[in-house]
Amino acid sequence: MAMLEVKNLTTFYKTRMNEKVCSVDNVSFTLEEGKSLGIAGESGCGKSTLAMSVMGYYFPPLNYESGSIIIDGKEITKLPPDTIRTTVLGTDIAYIPQAAMNALNPTRKIIRFIEDVLQAHGTKMTKSEIRHLAQERFAILNLPEKVLDQYAVELSGGMKQRTIIAISTILNPKVLIADEPSSALDVSSQKIVIKLLHDLMQKKFVRSMLFITHELPLLYNVTDDIMVMYAGEIVERGSAKEMIFDPIMPYSKGLMNSIIVPEDGTRGHILQAIPGSPPNLKKRPVGCRFGDRCKYADELCRKDSVNEQNASIGRSYRCRHPLEELYQIYENELPALLGDNEEKK
Ligand SMILES: Nc1ncnc2c1ncn2[C@@H]1O[C@H](COP(=O)(O)OP(=O)(O)OP(=O)(O)O)[C@@H](O)[C@H]1O
Ligand SMILES: [Mg+2]
Repeated sequence: MAMLEVKNLTTFYKTRMNEKVCSVDNVSFTLEEGKSLGIAGESGCGKSTLAMSVMGYYFPPLNYESGSIIIDGKEITKLPPDTIRTTVLGTDIAYIPQAAMNALNPTRKIIRFIEDVLQAHGTKMTKSEIRHLAQERFAILNLPEKVLDQYAVELSGGMKQRTIIAISTILNPKVLIADEPSSALDVSSQKIVIKLLHDLMQKKFVRSMLFITHELPLLYNVTDDIMVMYAGEIVERGSAKEMIFDPIMPYSKGLMNSIIVPEDGTRGHILQAIPGSPPNLKKRPVGCRFGDRCKYADELCRKDSVNEQNASIGRSYRCRHPLEELYQIYENELPALLGDNEEKK
């Protein structure tokens, strides 16, 4: 069953100069119950804007243009902001923003944030009942209970992030969006945060998850499916394994060639950066948005807009070239992408 269905969603920023920056452009995808979906892409491709947009809660400079968002069968797109805030956020969908741990008010105890979340949803619980609920949840998630009476400044980065995740999910959201939840942490704290997210899904406190990061190897370990975004569009989607080891669209291919996944068969892989930079989103690019940077682009790619194509069930990509043609091109290039060791075999 779909927990989140996004159909043709378009949102934009209005700059102070009254220019429109279309950072989420006609985006459609589904997230099934019990599944986690990763969103990858270079900085500025629209990952965080997509995350904010699917909450249906818009405030300047972000604006809604068109499309729909359905959470567990409920259309939330046209609901007034107040209704979204009190009946959707936290319960239907919870968002852990990028750099959330730097945003916690340092002068308040952690328990106060939990009271805020519950009170914003009109809880009839007393303070002691809220504390009891918080203690119970912290215990299940292996978080020390004493944190509830500490201030954010007293917590380490990793503990702060785990606490934020526990607070954000206290109302058992149907969809959790974690935007770069572990990027600012050291490796061991990262692992603990990822385990916490995994536990939340396992214990069904969270029924589906959108996980945003530019660290692709992390997505491989954490998510079922991966979507790649480029210039406000979804350019490819597939299972995590397919996306890492068998990307189709030239941009995804470039992205995967720029990382190391510690798996058999990837040794000797030469890392290659994608030359150039993404287009300016103040003007909707004509033709394929990756066209200017794509070494396989021809006249038609730069002229016609590109629709999504299905490669197989659950697998789609946005490129004008047929699948066989792309595979043929990649096959011919293979020796160039392998290091000495592989080439000599
Ligand atoms: N407040 C804003 N006003 C105008 N444009 C904005 C605003 N915030 C973001 N943008 C633009 O929207 C686009 C998408 O930004 P977004 O933050 O969603 O990217 P991202 O993929 O999350 O990047 P990162 O990996 O760096 O977090 C960028 O081109 C950015 O310049
Ligand atoms: Mg971001």
